[in-house]
Order: sequence, then C-alpha cells, then structure tokens
Amino acid sequence: MKNILITGGAGFIGSNFIRYLFQKEPDIQIVNLDKLTYAGSLENLIDIQSNERYSFIKGDICDHFLVTEIFHEHKIDTIIHFAAESHVDRSIINPELFIQTNIYGTYSLLEAARNYWLNEKSIPSDQARFHHVSTDEVFGSLEPEDPPFSETSPYSPNSPYAASKASSDHLVRAYAKTYGLPISITNCSNNYGPYQFPEKLIPLVILNAIDGKHLPIYGDGKQVRDWLFVMDHCEAIWTILRNGQIGGFYTIGGNIQPTNLDLVRTLCSVLDELLPNSVHLPHAGLIQFVEDRPGHDRRYAIDISKIRNALDWYPKESLKSGLRKTVSWYIDHPEWVSVIREKVSYQNWIERNYDKRGVQP
Ligand code: NAD
Ligand code: TYD
Repeated sequence: MKNILITGGAGFIGSNFIRYLFQKEPDIQIVNLDKLTYAGSLENLIDIQSNERYSFIKGDICDHFLVTEIFHEHKIDTIIHFAAESHVDRSIINPELFIQTNIYGTYSLLEAARNYWLNEKSIPSDQARFHHVSTDEVFGSLEPEDPPFSETSPYSPNSPYAASKASSDHLVRAYAKTYGLPISITNCSNNYGPYQFPEKLIPLVILNAIDGKHLPIYGDGKQVRDWLFVMDHCEAIWTILRNGQIGGFYTIGGNIQPTNLDLVRTLCSVLDELLPNSVHLPHAGLIQFVEDRPGHDRRYAIDISKIRNALDWYPKESLKSGLRKTVSWYIDHPEWVSVIREKVSYQNWIERNYDKRGVQP
C-alpha cells in the first residue's frame, strides 16, 4: 500500500484516520477526495494540509471521470471509502442524497477501481484493495434477547441511511464475486471522539451542555447503541488492511452498550468533572425527553470475536476514558466549534430537527 485514496477524509472518521495513518506509516502518499458537504471541513485537517505526502481534491465520488483521473494520476493501489451521507435523521427528512452518494457514489468508485486494477492491469490485483467502511445499522434492530450482530447476521436495514449503506455493501460484495475485485468491508458501531460534527448525539450533548441548553433524548431513551472511540476504529481498519483477509467482512464495536439515557448521564458526569465552575451544574439537569425518531432502532450490539481472534484487535478505550478525551477536545477547540456553529447549514439543521419536536413529560 503506497498510494492511498481516502474518500470523505474531511469528515469525522476520515480525518481521524488520515491523522492516524500519518503518525503510523512514514512511506504512504494520501489523496483525500471530499465534496466538502456540510459534514466535511478542511478545519479538520489543518495540521496535515501542507504535508508533502498529502493532497486534497475537492470533488464528488459520483463524478466518475474525476475518480478515474485520480486513479491514473496518483497510481492508486488502495482505496479506503468513508465518503457518505451519514446522519439517520437527515435521511428520514431527505433520502435522495443518501441514494445518490452512498449507492451511486460507491458504484462509481468500484467501476474506477475495476477498470484501473483489473481491466488495465495497472496494479497487480494482489497488491490492490478496496476497503469499504460501513455500519452495523445495515443489520437492523435487535430484540432484547437476540445475540449481537456478527459477520453472518442477515441484512435488515430500517432507515433510508441504513438501506443505502446496505446497498453499497451488496455492490462491493458483488464486485468481489463477479469480477474478483480485492475488497474488504467493515461494519462498525457508533463512533465518537474529536472532530465529530455536532449533529450526532455525543458532540451535540457536549456543546448544548456547555451552553446550558437542553439535552434532547429521543423517546424513552432506552435505545441501546454500541460505542467505539474513533481511534480504535481507525486502528481496526488499518489492521484489516495490513493483515486481514481479502474478501473479508468484519464487524467492529467497542463492547460498550449503554442505553442512550445512561450514556448521556455518564457524559454529564464527565462534563461536571471537567467543567467544575460551570453555572449549569449538574449537567444532567438539562436532560429533556423529546418526540422519538420514526422507525428508531431499539438495540445494536456487536460480536467482535472474528477480528479479535484473527487479528488480535480489540478496543483500547473505556467509555469513561474515551468520553474524557472527547469532552476535553471540544473544550480545548473553541475555534473549531465556532466555525462549525456559524455555518448556516448547521443552524438550519438544528432548527429543523429540534424546534418542532414535541417535548415529552
Ligand atoms: P461524516 O458525515 O462526518 O463525513 C462524511 C464525509 O464524506 C464528509 O467529509 C463529506 O464532505 C464527505 N462526502 C459526502 N458526500 C460526498 C460525495 N458525494 N463525494 C465526496 N465526499 C462526500 O461521516 P463519518 O461519521 O466520518 O462516517 C464515515 C463513514 O463511516 C461513513 O461511510 C459512515 O457510513 C461510516 N460509519 C460511521 C459511523 C459513525 O458512528 N459515525 C459508524 C459506522 C460507520
Ligand atoms: P446518532 O448519534 O444520530 O447515531 P445513530 O442514529 O447513527 O445511532 O444517535 C445515537 C442515538 O441517540 C440514537 O439512538 C438516536 C439518539 N439521539 C437522541 O436521543 N437525541 C438526539 O438529539 C440525537 C441526535 C440522537
């Protein structure tokens, strides 16, 4: 792996991954292709942007001509595909972009890789890899007694976001079976950590708590998610790229599965600890139950036996340690926070998603 194309590298996980790779691997050239949607920001990569091993291209993964040109110009041997529309609530309000980027965009990248690696044979296929970053949400929702999701779980997506990611997984798999494209896929649980766009639960709660605003909990707050610190996810992806099976599927998670309400309460206790002089103590007093998300999945959980046994990967961060790092990062980066907050698209989203959501007793 010498010339790596990262898609969506200006987003949350992609930017953390690029930073991780620069620290880890001295000989790799990285090309970051990102459309810079509302979720992508060059602020996320300020410390990397002038590195001579890095180039940024603003563009759309659906632009097949552009993607093909990038493969040729940069002799891409590896692609790590993060780019996506990623927020479930937005997919409920406007699914179209999810279909376009997550499905058509993945197809466009697969075609470019197939042409360059397999048809033109520009890179020997045993030295190439298409790694697709996906989500546990493709498996749907678990009942309380169900075993956790694993590599053999059936697909049963419930939101337009999950359905679009499931489609993209199927396309990647089909390109491996039909054309022999060297692929791998990871289905990971909820990530959290630095640089996450504050529309997702954890950064939203952190910023609202700092400002003394309500902390919105959808429905009864008893939904269960598995939480993984973003750097653990980055390490898992890189471990699979280096030592994982070609054609391999891996489920990845943090083995931490609180209810949303318990998670937010723990987050509030970390905020109390790190902001002892806040006038909003205790932050848990800001919790407010609001109208639920339609089709809200009740429970996710992940079985990480395959990656643990085969590749000795396991999550290093506990929930408390990961939340402390995350809260500290948001407290220490007020400039980043204000750049994001000043975006009109962000303000419009907060208004649209929360202003008309009924408050529950
Ligand atoms: P994000 O929304 O923070 O970032 C997505 C990035 O993709 C942004 O930089 C955006 O500008 C870019 N992008 C969007 N459409 C594009 C297009 N058409 N062309 C080029 N770039 C485009 O997302 P994230 O949370 O970093 O998630 C990254 C990937 O990981 C996604 O594929 C997501 O499905 C998956 N994933 C996320 C989580 C999570 O908890 N965040 C968990 C499991 C899997
Ligand atoms: P989110 O961060 O949007 O991730 P996902 O929907 O991909 O799991 O939400 C995590 C959980 O938190 C999910 O069950 C929805 C819930 N949630 C709230 O209760 N309130 C909120 O304001 C948000 C954004 C999410």
